[in-house]
Amino acid sequence: MSEIKRLEIEIIHYQSVEELPEIFATLLLEARHAASHSYSPYSHFEVGAAVLLQNNVIILGSNQENSSYPTGLCAERVALFAAATQHPGVKVTAIAVTARKAGNKPFEEVTPCGGCRQVMSEYEDLHGKDITIVMEAGKGSVNVVKNAASLLPFRFSHANLK
Ligand code: THU
Repeated sequence: MSEIKRLEIEIIHYQSVEELPEIFATLLLEARHAASHSYSPYSHFEVGAAVLLQNNVIILGSNQENSSYPTGLCAERVALFAAATQHPGVKVTAIAVTARKAGNKPFEEVTPCGGCRQVMSEYEDLHGKDITIVMEAGKGSVNVVKNAASLLPFRFSHANLK
C-alpha cells in the first residue's frame, strides 16, 4: 500500500528589521553591508551573507563571480567556508542572507540556493546544532527559519555514506 507523507516547515515572518531579535537584526545589516562587496559583473545580482558564530564573531561573505561561470561562489558559502577556516571547530549559530540588483537597488526577497542549503546542513550535522537562517523578504520584511534542515527536507547526508 502506498502512503503520502507531507512535510511542513515553519517560517517566521517579520514585517520589519526592527521587529527581529536584536542579534538577527545586526546580522542582516551586516549581510547588507557585505552585499556591497559582491563581485557580480555577469549576473548583476549582489548577494551578501553574514555568519554568526557561537563565540559571537560575525564573518561576512559576498557572491564572487568569474568569467568561467561555474567557478564563482555564492555569498553564503564564501562566508561559511571562511568561518570554518578562520574559527575552526566553532559552531555556527545563524546566517543572514540578502540580495539586490546592481545599482543600489532595494534589497529584495532571497532564499539560499540548494547547494548552500546542503553546505549549511553539513555544518548542522557536524556541530549538532541548528543554524537559524535569516532571509531578506522584500519591502524591509524578513523571514526566519529555525534550521537549514527545514529548508532541505529529504537531504543527502553523511548518513547515506555509511
Ligand atoms: N547567489 C548567491 O550568492 N547565493 C544564493 O543563494 C543564490 C545565488 C549568487 C550566485 C551568482 O553570483 C548570482 O547570485 C546569480 O545566481
